[in-house]
Amino acid sequence: MAAATEKIWDLKPHSLGKHLVLREYLKAWLPILGLTQERIIFLDGFAGPGEYKGGEDGSPIIALNAFLEHSAKNKIRAEVKFVFIEDEQDRAEHLDGLVSPFKARLPQGSEVRVVCGAFDETFAPQLESLADADKPFPPCFAMVDPFGVSDTPMHVMERILAHRMSEVYISVMYEQINRFRGSDEFSGPLDLLYGCPDWRTCADLNDGRERRRCLFDLYKRQLRKAGAEQVIHFDLYDGSRHKYSIFHASRHALASDKMKAAIWSIDPGGNFSFRGGQTDGTCQRV
Ligand SMILES: C[S@@+](CC[C@H](N)C(=O)[O-])C[C@H]1O[C@@H](n2cnc3c(N)ncnc32)[C@H](O)[C@@H]1O
Repeated sequence: MAAATEKIWDLKPHSLGKHLVLREYLKAWLPILGLTQERIIFLDGFAGPGEYKGGEDGSPIIALNAFLEHSAKNKIRAEVKFVFIEDEQDRAEHLDGLVSPFKARLPQGSEVRVVCGAFDETFAPQLESLADADKPFPPCFAMVDPFGVSDTPMHVMERILAHRMSEVYISVMYEQINRFRGSDEFSGPLDLLYGCPDWRTCADLNDGRERRRCLFDLYKRQLRKAGAEQVIHFDLYDGSRHKYSIFHASRHALASDKMKAAIWSIDPGGNFSFRGGQTDGTCQRV
């Protein structure tokens, strides 16, 4: 499975869409929950090193800045807990160095943790450590952004979505699913990704559009089975190649509406697709 071998890598133009939508969505998520809840959690399960070679911010820094620079920051009463999980030690250490100066800027009760470990083994104890036994579980926005299709099993989504105000923002590497759907090496990870073996029926379809629709519909159905009441997605392209899609699964129509608004604000045409591959790294709408 593709994985950057360097500690820090170039931000791909198509990945910019993921960050633009995230930043926009957090502008709504932070005050909606931060004004009504005692504690909220931003969990980045595949956090990365926190920056790219060109100096662009990674998702953890985007999330911290979304809070610290929010126009409603002084009204947000919730403790905002940032949990950044990264499996590669050098990337985790790099991220730790980058987030360090943010710690003093966070209001009392808010905190940032960088945890070096595997997401599927680490997220549950981290979340549990942030829950008080006598109180409802704090709402959690979980960003799940792997390089490939491994380590993001459906049972993990189910565990996160078990909490009534939690939601997941998952990158699904469609290009890899499509390219390797017949390979034995991928069948185990795909069984886990989907939480069932039914993706094989879709993978056998000859027509590429039908195959994609079938695979996406199945993923959405599985997220609903895992507890989501609302599931939407948008696609990210490299040139004409569909690289991956991001699924947002939540239990509230308001969360889904705000995510649609975030996508819409980036793509007023309502047909969100970033087409990368340009030398200046800018994005084109299609
Ligand atoms: C696509 S990058 C994350 C980019 C980051 N979310 C951003 O937008 O800036 C995926 C990261 O997940 C890390 N990773 C890979 N497998 C992991 C696992 N099982 N648990 C946690 N992190 C993992 C990789 O080392 C890599 O840094």
